[in-house]
Amino acid sequence: MNERLARLDRAHIVHPHQVVGRPPPPLVIESGKGAVITDVDGNEYIDGTCGLWQCLVGHGREELADVAADQMRTLEFYASFWDYSNRPAIELAERLAGISPPGIGHVFFTNGGSEGTETAIKLARLAWSSAGQPDRNLILSRKMAYHGVGYGSLSATGIPPLKEGFGPLAEGFVHLTAPYPLRLPDCTETCIAELEETIERLGAGRIAAMIGEPVLGVAGMIPPPDDYWPRVAEVLGRHGILLIFDEIVTAYGRTGSWFAAERWGGIPADLIVTAKGLTSGYVPMGAVLIGDRVMELLDGTRFSHGFTYNGHPTGAAVALRNLEIIEREGLRERAVEMGDRLMAALREAEGLPAVAEVRGVGLMAGVELEEPGDGAELAARIRARGAIVRATGQKLVLSPPLVIEPAQIDRLAEIIVSELAATTVPA
Ligand SMILES: Cc1ncc(COP(=O)(O)O)c(C=O)c1O
Repeated sequence: MNERLARLDRAHIVHPHQVVGRPPPPLVIESGKGAVITDVDGNEYIDGTCGLWQCLVGHGREELADVAADQMRTLEFYASFWDYSNRPAIELAERLAGISPPGIGHVFFTNGGSEGTETAIKLARLAWSSAGQPDRNLILSRKMAYHGVGYGSLSATGIPPLKEGFGPLAEGFVHLTAPYPLRLPDCTETCIAELEETIERLGAGRIAAMIGEPVLGVAGMIPPPDDYWPRVAEVLGRHGILLIFDEIVTAYGRTGSWFAAERWGGIPADLIVTAKGLTSGYVPMGAVLIGDRVMELLDGTRFSHGFTYNGHPTGAAVALRNLEIIEREGLRERAVEMGDRLMAALREAEGLPAVAEVRGVGLMAGVELEEPGDGAELAARIRARGAIVRATGQKLVLSPPLVIEPAQIDRLAEIIVSELAATTVPA
């Protein structure tokens, strides 16, 4: 590893999710092309995760670099507060309204995911407040959920170690059981009974919204049973509770459609939070899609909220071209095709002693080890063989770029399956 860069990194950068003062040697990435990244020593890796699931169209697209450069030459940035606007943001908003599920026609731009979930939570609470129901402010979430790291989004998150030492968190969040079929028998029935009981106990008139990832991501890429979201939506609809879909991972093609909300016969989300894939990560940008019902509740109320870089023209120009590439190259269809190929190859690991389950949706896959499997150790072995996967506890999660080639999928799966075969199960 390039000694100078490694030394400077350890001397000066505090990395997310690392032990402060004890940094391990960094893997310094120099370049990327398609589904391959290269480190500063010239080692290549198949990118099985897109870093953090964002890079739908693959690395190193000159077209996106050119769009960003052109926009920067014309107008790099100007604020979108109050009555200021810019052409790329307006065109992107129109495009997003065009691809959004029925009943969604507005957008609030952000810089990323956590800001998006903060925004959605604030919109839901403000909507009820402006409708004369300020006490309707509780937010239902789920255990195992990941919604970000701001105080609101972290409060919605259901992963206790991520909250340790940061208290006090925001009030008014209630965590329900997550739909986790492998570990929860009668999964949908149990979750729905608990949801109904919770609404009964708290009172529907106190609950502003429920927030959930359509497919639990950080928790281990766990798709819910097919009847889970339709039944949750039915219960929420019956009680007038808003539904916030956190599609920060799933939006813009990863599951095979523009939004996961289009699955399961169509889930009528009131707010859809997106980020990552909106620009494929070329520029940090997110978008909260706002449904008509929320717009009606908010009608006439000032939304005193905004981030400096809202509606960033360069980000919006890149997002527009990124969406065009997804459409032009049929990447939603490709997500299904490559996802099926990856799943078929990974399923070969299912009978292995170390493997509890292989699962996935579109081009998202999860491998769960038998307890007390060590995902981090396994991911390190896989990386040493030239493929990047992410470990979360005893699970591996995969979300390669949608442009990944069949041969790269095969190689990725081959490395993973052979390392799983070499994994011993602790007594
Ligand atoms: C489902 C989900 N919600 C929210 C976030 C937070 O997004 P960001 O890291 O851009 O703030 C993430 C990030 O991985 C995510 O996966």
